[in-house]
Amino acid sequence: MKEIIAEIRQRTLEQLKTVTDSRSLDELRVKVLGKKGELTGMLRSMGQVAAEMRPQIGQWVNEARESIEQAISESQKSISELELERRLESEKLDVTLPVKDRSEGSLHPMSLVLEKLFDIFTGMGFEAVEGPEVELDHYNFELMNIPKNHPARDAQDTFYVDDNIVLRTHTSPVQARIMTTRKPPIRIVSFGRVYRADEADATHSPVFHQLEGLVIDENITMADLKGTLDTFATRLYGEGVTTRFRPSFFPFTEPSAEVDLTCAACRGKGCRVCKGTGWIEVLGAGMVNPHVLEMCGIDNKKYQGFAFGMGVERLTNLKYNVPDMRYLYENDIRFLKQFRG
Ligand code: PHE
Repeated sequence: MKEIIAEIRQRTLEQLKTVTDSRSLDELRVKVLGKKGELTGMLRSMGQVAAEMRPQIGQWVNEARESIEQAISESQKSISELELERRLESEKLDVTLPVKDRSEGSLHPMSLVLEKLFDIFTGMGFEAVEGPEVELDHYNFELMNIPKNHPARDAQDTFYVDDNIVLRTHTSPVQARIMTTRKPPIRIVSFGRVYRADEADATHSPVFHQLEGLVIDENITMADLKGTLDTFATRLYGEGVTTRFRPSFFPFTEPSAEVDLTCAACRGKGCRVCKGTGWIEVLGAGMVNPHVLEMCGIDNKKYQGFAFGMGVERLTNLKYNVPDMRYLYENDIRFLKQFRG
């Protein structure tokens, strides 16, 4: 008995020296000291041993158990250290490596202006709506009081898809679409691309963006239009920027106005941007022509309305002092990253 116990102890201690991870260590522990382990088995087989021998054997087993347990706990310690070292090694970070470029993106200046415009107009109670870019002649021209052969068609160098379909030349057809499908009161803004057969230069592009506004209700006057546009001008460009109306002509508004804003660059003093006038021409506006209301099925005795349309590229370039419209389309990162709200 004594020899068997000594052999188990000896063998286990030998094996312990070769164990290098806690899983194998645990397996060894269970194999020897576990409920069905070798050493525990010795105690169980004690039934076959003479009663007076039992305490002696118990003592041998316990001594062996103690020395094995102690060896295990020592080896547990060194294995833990070893494993920690291994983990640290595998998770090592070289903090001297060059960092990856994580430069942040920024919004396009037009998007920044557009967000602002939506805030301004929805803040005044306007609802944002959309319309198609490929548009029926009927909405783009006819309902805007620009019949076939009207000279105003020439002013808008139109891309025709066929006799009845155009790429919209302005966002005004959205007015017609809304007026023919809704009842007043109406208060909408619409933003989107428009198309004109222009050569691209510093102030022209065959594709650009407009923002259209339309209000129809009872007792709407030009003063409401002026108040709305003054508020827009001040909110977009800051205190001191207001509007000036000059008489103009659009077939779909009567009376019509060409609207100037105080030059935001010099605040009206006169500079190179405004060619010394202190004003910048920015948008078209007017009272919705009663004939347009009638064509769209709105009672023009009861209701009046105002409308305005503006080029968003121009608003953007004035806001950020950008001299050429083409910068907005070229997507040169060195240009774009300068705009952060
Ligand atoms: N649709 C006109 C244009 O593109 C702008 C405008 C809109 C004028 C609404 C008056 C009223 O030039």
